[in-house]
Formats: sequence, C-alpha cells, structure tokens
Amino acid sequence: GCASGGSGGSGGADDGKITMGFSQVGAESGWRTANTKSIQDSAKTAGIELKFSDAQQKQENQIKAIRSFIQQKVDVIAFSPVVESGWDTVLKEAQNAKIPVILTDRAVDSADTSLYKTFLGSDFVEEGRKAGKWLVEEYKDSTETVNIVQLEGTTGSAPANDRRDGFAEIIKADPKFKVIASQTGDFTRAKGKEVMEAFLKSNPDIDVLYAHNDDMGLGAIEAIEGAGKVPGKDIKIITVDAVKDGMQALADGKINFIVECSPILGPQLMDLAKKVVAGEQVPQRVLTEETTFTPEQAKAALPTRPY
Ligand code: AHR
Repeated sequence: GCASGGSGGSGGADDGKITMGFSQVGAESGWRTANTKSIQDSAKTAGIELKFSDAQQKQENQIKAIRSFIQQKVDVIAFSPVVESGWDTVLKEAQNAKIPVILTDRAVDSADTSLYKTFLGSDFVEEGRKAGKWLVEEYKDSTETVNIVQLEGTTGSAPANDRRDGFAEIIKADPKFKVIASQTGDFTRAKGKEVMEAFLKSNPDIDVLYAHNDDMGLGAIEAIEGAGKVPGKDIKIITVDAVKDGMQALADGKINFIVECSPILGPQLMDLAKKVVAGEQVPQRVLTEETTFTPEQAKAALPTRPY
C-alpha cells in the first residue's frame, strides 16, 4: 500500500518496503525491452515495490506519471527522460514533495542539478566517438570521399544528440568523410526502414550508414536489400546497442561494427535507490561499462548473450 509514514520518511508503504515509481520511455527497441526487464527483475530481487509506467515515447505521459507518483507518495522516483529539455517544473514538484529522483539511462539538461540525486547510464558521446574511430580506421588507406548517411535516434533525446556529436567530433578531422543525409528514425525498426528507403532514393552513392541503434539499422538492412544492394558490403553499417538481433546481423556480416550500450541498469538502480532513500550520499554520475564488437567478436559472444 502507499499510506503515509514508512521507510523513506517521505511516504511509501507501511511495511517498511521501498516503493519506486519508474517512468519508462516506451517499448521502441530491443534495448528498451531488455532494460524494462532488467528493472522489473531487479526490483523483485531487491524487494522494492515497483510502480511501472510506459510513456510510449511521449514526454507529456512521463510528466503525468511523475505527478501521479508524487501524489501516491512513493519513496523514490526513477525515470528515463525521453527528451533532454522541459523537466524543471515537474522535478521541482518532486523536490518540494521531498521525493528523491534518479535519472536512469538518459540525461536532462536542467541547469539545477540538485533536482536529481544521481544519473545512472552510458556515456553516449563516447559511444559516438567509438563509432567514428572505427570508421576512420576502416578507411585509413583511402583518399576518396566517404558518403555517410545517419539514422538519428528520437529528436531531442540525449542518445541522439550525443551519439551524433561524438561521431562528428571524430570524423571532422578528415574532410573525406561527408554526412550527406541525417534524419531521425525514432529508434524504431519501422522508421529506420522507411527513412533508409528515402535515403536510397535520393542518394545513389551511399558508402556508410551510421544508425544510432541496432533496431534502426535492422530496418535499414531490409531497405538496402529491397533496393538490391548488399548490406555490410555495398553499404557498410555501424550501429549502437549490441542486442541479440543486432549481434546476429553483425555475425552474419550485414552489420560491420556495433558499439555496445548496456540496458542492464536494474541492479545498480536498485542499489542507488536504497542508498538515496536511506539518505546516504551517492555519486552524481554513475557510468555503465561498455565495449565494442566486430563480426568475429559477435560470433564469440552470441551463444551467451543474455538479451
Ligand atoms: O537511451 C538508450 C537508447 O534508447 C538505446 O540505444 C535505444 O535502442 C533506445 O531506444
């Protein structure tokens, strides 16, 4: 139940159990599905009562969910903000209600960092840089122009902004790299396919696709095959995430390189939540550890890949 009193001093259950309100972005990708499962499983293991809400990629739904968590007097609110801006008002409301907030996976651009206790997730800029570095190495012996198309994540989201910027920072060192088209595919397979079809129609000479996640890359592969081209050969493909379907395409040679982004944030989130509710100090920023994969590495990793 959610009566007053309880564990964290700011409300929650009478039984001493911590109640967490979690507002998820949606179910847009394989990554997101794995992330949701990680959070639900870890809450169970940690003995935390989870109130889970799916925002279907809409900020207004997330704001509504957070307000409802405040009303229900949960002990802690965690959320993965769909976009970076526009959170100050609702975060202030949580602060006034003395409910601690933990950012999970994605950042907000609020200048007032006291509005949240900590931010747990990947370094998306670094992910973009890793993608760029692979490309620079791949084309180091060539002097010809490399025509790149980019499938961006959800407009205004931290991973879309940062993966674009990190990548651009690396490739700008050599003018032979040209991003000839860049558009959002909203992190979904369907949109990735649709936008890639349009790219292929207006650009006969695409060398490389950089997709901000596996799902958009997988959709684009269908578009490339549909246009009679060979993904991984005629058009080289770099993606981010390393979920099973992406790793399979990498092992099959349809994707050339994947930068890992770990969705398994649940265990760390529950640890942080317990500390924050107990009033303990936690670091402002908690980074996830990640690697990259070539086709050979994907083949080796696939049999034991958990998601
Ligand atoms: O915020 C993380 C990103 O969101 C993942 O890379 C993408 O697949 C998901 O939709």
